[in-house]
Amino acid sequence: MAIERTLSIIKPDAVKGQHIGQIIARFEAEGLRIAGARLCQLSRREAEGFYAEHSARGFFGELCDFMTSGPVVVMALEGDDAIARNRAIMGATNPANAEPNTLRKLYAASVGENAVHGSDSPAAAAREIAYFFRSIELS
Ligand code: CMP
Repeated sequence: MAIERTLSIIKPDAVKGQHIGQIIARFEAEGLRIAGARLCQLSRREAEGFYAEHSARGFFGELCDFMTSGPVVVMALEGDDAIARNRAIMGATNPANAEPNTLRKLYAASVGENAVHGSDSPAAAAREIAYFFRSIELS
């Protein structure tokens, strides 16, 4: 397996619910290392740019409203097969379909407010990490 990096976001619902510590502890317990992390409030423009691939979808406005509704934690996670492993730890996009003990089953209320984001491919991981971090901010 290859060492990869992937972008993770702890979304406003999970930050408000005070689950930052539990989510980071879970990543570390599963062997993913935090290579970079920052708590920040996204502007509308930053949220729209991050989710640009979804701009034609009916839920885009709602998604950007939600992602700007409070602070988020953006992280670069590193480890063996980190992209797929992070997605397995998160569970299905819709928490109703997520496996037991996944982050979305534990902490998410709906498909729109689903606690965490994770890159879905190597290309997305490279773009998304570069969207939030300069290389000097990662170690
Ligand atoms: P995320 O993994 O961050 O990537 C895109 C997001 O769009 C996704 O999580 C969901 O939160 C959101 N999303 C996907 N489908 C819907 C939907 N039908 N209604 C609202 N939000 C959605």
